[in-house]
Amino acid sequence: MSLSSAWWKRARDILGERIVSDPSLLDPYGHDESAPEEFRNPPEAVVRPIDEGEVSAVLKLCRDERVPVTVRGAGTGLAAGCVPARGGIVLTTELMNRVMDSDPANLTITVQAGVPLRKLYEEVAKMSLYFPPHPGDEGAHVGGAVAANAGGARAVKYGTVRRFVLGLQVVLAGGEILDLGGKYIKSSTGYHLVDLMIGSEGTLGVITRITLSLLPPVGSVQTLLAPFATLESAIGAVPRVLGTGILPCAVEFIEHSVVLLAERLLNKSWPSHEGAASLMLILDGRNDQDTLAQAEVIGTALEQAGALDVLLTDQKGRQADMLEIRSMLYEAIRPGTAEAFDICVPRSEIASHVGFVHRLEETRGVPIPTYGHAADGNVHSHSLRRSLENGVFGGELPGWREQSASIRHALYEDVVRRGGVISGEHGIGLVKKEYLPMNLGPVHMAVMRSIKKALDPEGILNPGKIFDA
Ligand code: LAC
Ligand code: ZN
Repeated sequence: MSLSSAWWKRARDILGERIVSDPSLLDPYGHDESAPEEFRNPPEAVVRPIDEGEVSAVLKLCRDERVPVTVRGAGTGLAAGCVPARGGIVLTTELMNRVMDSDPANLTITVQAGVPLRKLYEEVAKMSLYFPPHPGDEGAHVGGAVAANAGGARAVKYGTVRRFVLGLQVVLAGGEILDLGGKYIKSSTGYHLVDLMIGSEGTLGVITRITLSLLPPVGSVQTLLAPFATLESAIGAVPRVLGTGILPCAVEFIEHSVVLLAERLLNKSWPSHEGAASLMLILDGRNDQDTLAQAEVIGTALEQAGALDVLLTDQKGRQADMLEIRSMLYEAIRPGTAEAFDICVPRSEIASHVGFVHRLEETRGVPIPTYGHAADGNVHSHSLRRSLENGVFGGELPGWREQSASIRHALYEDVVRRGGVISGEHGIGLVKKEYLPMNLGPVHMAVMRSIKKALDPEGILNPGKIFDA
């Protein structure tokens, strides 16, 4: 399908020069940061609106002309959610990067969808307030983080992005501008459509503005690092940590084979390589006295749970280095990755799920290094396409494609058996779509289809994502 001359004429009337059509510039809009190459597909054109009025006009035009519209933030997604699978156009929010309203009295900030997380954190710091979710890549746009209901490390204590979204402005498939929610924190007033839009991956509407709730700032942050002999023993320590009654901000687990890759990439060093895996815990509180008291109690629990050592890092620079190594794990492991998973199981199932992955690794003869958000039950296993020895990738593994498909199948079956979900934080997109029905079941799928049909009867919004309407 190609865009008609009528489409081009009206699009130029709406956007002027802000349309990309040079084929050499379209490629970057045909993929995100997920590993599989088979999902790449450049759009026919990219439109760059600056506000909801232009988004509305573009959607009316595309509905009239039956042109698929795929919304894209910064393209940092890991599920091919912003790839224009059925062609048509990409609508990028990159020019919609204004902070609309900072409101310390209500503890809220309202931003356009294309504001990068980095800018959001800066603005919130200027207000002396705190936006806890930290999905990882600070280049990601707020709109994308909402569209995927992004998670990240700090979800243990604060929850995912969803918990902080008070209001949304959404442009519907027919161009209607809908303002949902507001600055209030309670509502029993009608269906909660804000929650329906969060995590809908651009299939139900285009998010143009977001009102976020903020928290008072934290005065002190400490990081604890505990190496363990095995990954299983590291994860086994988590119930003990939670049993102390103190909720850490983050409880991350990392196999040391993955740490080595990130250390080499960044030329920075992880505080300990003893044993096979580490737990990294971030504690936050009102002041140092508060966080140090937390560290003491949790440190004792970690020792009792078999930690080989417990290291406290209170220096800001050292903590930032550790966080950087942790945040770059995906980047470091990506060159050897066939597929990255982001499953989430009930916390009590995480140890046995990871044990299952280890057995899978042994029986299939494919390395499946893992890391993730231990206290959330959110595990990132990576089935590899290349061998991995002492933190260095070797040659391609024979038959890795078939192996990876078969590992995916077994892994998802295990997750569903344990009452979990196939995506905890990255979204379904194209990458996991085939497996959604086995996870959610026919009734849930049918309800989602009805909702999609009600809101986007012509099927122009990000068609082919999450499920086939
Ligand atoms: C992380 C991303 C991959 O946890 O979700 O690093
Ligand atoms: Zn993650």
